[in-house]
Amino acid sequence: MGGKFITFEGPEGSGKTSVIKAVHDYLEQEGYDIVTTREPGGSDIAEAIRTILLSKENTEMDARTEALLFAASRAQHLHEKVLPALEAGKIILCDRFLDSSLAYQGHARQLGIEDVYQINKFGIDSHMPDLTIFIDVPPEVGLARVFDNTGRKIDRLDLETVEFHQRVYDGYKILAKRFEDRFVVIDGTNDVETVIEDTIMVIRTYL
Ligand code: TYD
Repeated sequence: MGGKFITFEGPEGSGKTSVIKAVHDYLEQEGYDIVTTREPGGSDIAEAIRTILLSKENTEMDARTEALLFAASRAQHLHEKVLPALEAGKIILCDRFLDSSLAYQGHARQLGIEDVYQINKFGIDSHMPDLTIFIDVPPEVGLARVFDNTGRKIDRLDLETVEFHQRVYDGYKILAKRFEDRFVVIDGTNDVETVIEDTIMVIRTYL
């Protein structure tokens, strides 16, 4: 048995990044061997794909190209970074994974959750997260946070319509039901300290 693969999902402005950092520090203090990483990106090749995906200049990108690039970035990152760390018995904390593609490209871009799942299956084989923390923040709350946070870089997907972000959220709700054995839903409308405490509690119990 190797390590554990824990993914973090949520719409824009869910506070994922702060939560992951706090969980990382907490688990490290507890003596766990932790690798924190993110998608799209997390390795040189995958980060290069990320730059193409998130560039505000690439407005003409076709939805299928977008889905394939996310899947390509995921395959590279998984094989180059995640699987070796898992085999070494580490705990991987990954900011976004497959479910982001299912919610954003599958549901919100309306390519279909099933079709997007199929192209990703080719990339990731049978490797699924052991646990997925979904930080639940409705789009109106999340987007207000994104645009209030002046230090945050706004990317191509942040600039999508409110309807798009509503569909992302609806997509996550569908996934939380479909994958209920690995999804844990955390109320992300609370203040960040509470969200962090709730998440740490879930992960501690899991481990
Ligand atoms: P990211 O830097 O992860 O931003 P956030 O802080 O919102 O998590 O940006 C990644 C963007 O790409 C985000 O808008 C979600 C989107 N995305 C997809 O559409 N599909 C995917 O498969 C992934 C991994 C991300």
